[in-house]
Amino acid sequence: MTILVAYASKHGATRGIAERIAERLQALGHEAEALPVDAVSDPKTYEAVVLGSAIYYGSWMREATEFLLRHQTPLSARPVWLFSSGPLGVETRGGEEQPRELAEFRDAVHPRGYQLFFGALDHEKLSFPERMVIRAVRAPEGDYRDWPAIDAWAERIASELEPHGYEAAPPPGPEITPPGV
Ligand SMILES: Cc1cc2nc3c(=O)[nH]c(=O)nc-3n(C[C@H](O)[C@H](O)[C@H](O)COP(=O)(O)O)c2cc1C
Repeated sequence: MTILVAYASKHGATRGIAERIAERLQALGHEAEALPVDAVSDPKTYEAVVLGSAIYYGSWMREATEFLLRHQTPLSARPVWLFSSGPLGVETRGGEEQPRELAEFRDAVHPRGYQLFFGALDHEKLSFPERMVIRAVRAPEGDYRDWPAIDAWAERIASELEPHGYEAAPPPGPEITPPGV
């Protein structure tokens, strides 16, 4: 069965992270596909789910939150990992946890892991109001996605899924000597 890497992305940075995770899982021998949350028909058809969203104003994008809450029963019945793409620059601001709904998400689907990744910001792609906000908070432009960290996280997911894919070999039975030998 396939691993779903579902994402919500406004300007493409989170989509890139989700696609990279799916590629890494494939390279490690798993079937995996990255899809925007709105294109997922039924999460029950997947063996495991990785779900991520860009963070805007401290929260996940609406469609990602809706997806998680709408599908919380099937999600909590299978291995789930969550991730966010947000902070710009190279240091996360201490203190406040992001997204602010994280505790609610943990209660709803009991993820095996949560990871906050650095994001990317391209002024050219922003709407006028977004550009005003970014200027006001002096957020730095650039692509801060940490590909080695993203790959390492995908590898951890693959290794946690591995034992389910293999049946343990049965213990060797007693040696039977045919009569008359
Ligand atoms: C208007 C605006 C608000 C943002 N608010 C936050 C925020 O509250 N916390 C955060 O970590 N990043 C914030 N970011 C940065 C984005 O989360 C980051 O650029 C992300 O990688 C964008 O993902 P996307 O391209 O998939 O939409 C904000 C960016 C914009 C343009």
